[in-house]
Amino acid sequence: MQDLATLARSSTPRGEVVLRQRGSVEELVVNGTFAMDSTETSSERELGRLARGAGRVLVGGLGLGYTVAAVLDEADRGAYAVAVDVVELEADLVAWAHEGRTPTLARAATDPRVRLFSGDVATVLAGRRKDLPGPWDAILLDVDNGPDFLIHAANDALYAEPGLRDAYARVAPGGVLAIWCQAPSPPLLAALARIDPSARERRHEVQREGRTFTYAVETVRRPRA
Ligand SMILES: C[S@@+](CC[C@H](N)C(=O)[O-])C[C@H]1O[C@@H](n2cnc3c(N)ncnc32)[C@H](O)[C@@H]1O
Repeated sequence: MQDLATLARSSTPRGEVVLRQRGSVEELVVNGTFAMDSTETSSERELGRLARGAGRVLVGGLGLGYTVAAVLDEADRGAYAVAVDVVELEADLVAWAHEGRTPTLARAATDPRVRLFSGDVATVLAGRRKDLPGPWDAILLDVDNGPDFLIHAANDALYAEPGLRDAYARVAPGGVLAIWCQAPSPPLLAALARIDPSARERRHEVQREGRTFTYAVETVRRPRA
């Protein structure tokens, strides 16, 4: 059994947020739900790579920062300019990023291409944040473990058709909306397909602790103007 160290902990009206280190592995627990660890980050990075070529990117939420890192890596690889807006519900997690509590969070907080905001990404997608009007060429959402395993019950609205239409409305022509899910989600894919026929599902197999998990990213693209 590896040592478990608490790097940071806070209590919020929504529940506890805990950042931990187990050996070399970082873990994030939000509202009593295991949100993310750094054992296997390929699907979160894959989500970031979907922003390939995008000049303006919105990421919700920050988590441990691996999706944000992948967006930056992709821009470095392609040698293009990118501006990344990250909206994270937990202000304390944003503060821990600024304090550099883990290397990946520190990178998100210090890279000049990234702006970190605290708040509910649903508010941004509904157009109710004047400082974040959009549009974005890529909107990447990973705020739960998917629509079937919510971190916060209120996030349910993000995956219902009105919430998805809000998000789609903030995507620039030619851009993409991508949503990480811990399992393929036929209802989410169907809702996206009702919004735009470009809806697609990308499955991503991951081996963890001797088991195979099939994660999915559901996407929809806006036609070019
Ligand atoms: C699964 S983690 C994201 C993992 C991230 N993709 C990464 O690479 O580390 C989910 C994050 O979304 C945040 N979150 C949950 N609901 C949110 C909301 N409505 N708006 C913004 N952030 C939210 C959580 O606090 C948590 O930091």
